[in-house]
Amino acid sequence: MRHSIAVTVALCAVLLASTPAWVQPAPAIKSTAVELPAGDALFSGGSSADAINNNCLACHSADMVLNQPTLPRSIWEAEVRKMIKVYRAPIDESDVPAIVEYLVKVKSSD
Ligand code: HEC
Repeated sequence: MRHSIAVTVALCAVLLASTPAWVQPAPAIKSTAVELPAGDALFSGGSSADAINNNCLACHSADMVLNQPTLPRSIWEAEVRKMIKVYRAPIDESDVPAIVEYLVKVKSSD
């Protein structure tokens, strides 16, 4: 009897000491430096571009907007409305006219 207890204790000690195969080692987290392409960060034009710079760069680049074709004012107005309504851009209503003015100035034949 005493012998089997000693064997059981020894067996348990061996089982507890060895790591089962299904236990994965904790993943090691390492820091990595990533260089992201810079791109043209802002709309140019100084203070006339403040409204568009403050409201239109959270989700996509200035380049993406500036690479659109020239469009009539009504389409630019609708585009800004679409950003607000469809994509939930948090744009203050008082900034909309200055944004549309800027877009018409740089990307419209109107
Ligand atoms: C809340 C995020 C968000 C903000 C802020 C935002 N947009 Fe967008 N915009 C999008 C998404 C999403 C798309 C469609 C997917 C894409 O092309 O990246 C888009 C697409 C566009 C397009 C391409 C044409 C189209 O309709 O798909 C233009 C032009 C554009 N946005 C202009 C603007 C302007 C101007 C502003 C500021 C008034 C603005 N965006 C602010 C999310 C945003």
